[in-house]
Amino acid sequence: MSLRHRILQFRSARVALEDDLPDVARSVAMIMDGNGRWARRRGLPVAAGHQAGARALRRTVEATIELGVESLCVYAFSTENWSRSAAEVDALMAVIVESIERELPELVQQGVRTRFMGRRDRAPEELAVKIQELEAATEGLDRLHLWVAFDYGGRDEIVQAARRLVEECVEPRDIDENAIAARMFAPELREPDLLIRTSGELRVSNFLLWQLAYTELVFVDVLWPDFGRRELRRALTEYARRRRRFGGR
Ligand code: IPE
Ligand code: IPE
Ligand code: MG
Repeated sequence: MSLRHRILQFRSARVALEDDLPDVARSVAMIMDGNGRWARRRGLPVAAGHQAGARALRRTVEATIELGVESLCVYAFSTENWSRSAAEVDALMAVIVESIERELPELVQQGVRTRFMGRRDRAPEELAVKIQELEAATEGLDRLHLWVAFDYGGRDEIVQAARRLVEECVEPRDIDENAIAARMFAPELREPDLLIRTSGELRVSNFLLWQLAYTELVFVDVLWPDFGRRELRRALTEYARRRRRFGGR
């Protein structure tokens, strides 16, 4: 094959890819829901559902990198999830610890900067140590920015921001949207272009209440452990069809 032919072929492949996903969501948020139902349908303990959920996150991180997403924020544990049985909470904490241990080398290799957002004072000691290790080991990477919302609540985040404004004696006239945004748990988090929730539930369950103001919402029926590249691609294609107006004409 001639060089010219090869160049033409390369060009058309690239155009095809761009045509496929004309408007890639650069920042994606994900409510990873349905682990419990996935396990129940298989007659497995709920912990097996959370383990399968961790594997789905691995696949999804890889797919987001391939599909051009730059920031991914996943909901791993809400402030309300503490109300589940101690056995389930313990199992889930163990799954998160194991996942960090298992995935850390690959996250580093793939250039995934990983940070946690949410309360830091209630995680079991072992997990708190792993979180710090992961954040330190991936600091400075920037192929994908992965945010893990853990012990996270959108209302809690806004309450903490209000508390900080008062503690810092900010004058009422200086309180504007920027002042509040700067006091969120992760001010560097890019506002999501797209939020995906799996498992067919149609609600936001206290996730990113401030940041979702103009985010496009996509709800998919698959349970989180069954989510992967194909489902992500579908959601991104759906996003590309939307017209964002931000209140304008
Ligand atoms: C999501 O799956 C994981 C967490 C909330 C920690 P669930 O455990 O909520 O699964 P369902 O909704 O019961 O199926
Ligand atoms: C939201 O799912 C929290 C996470 C996915 C971590 P939940 O399963 O806790 O939400 P609800 O209870 O169905 O609203
Ligand atoms: Mg759920």
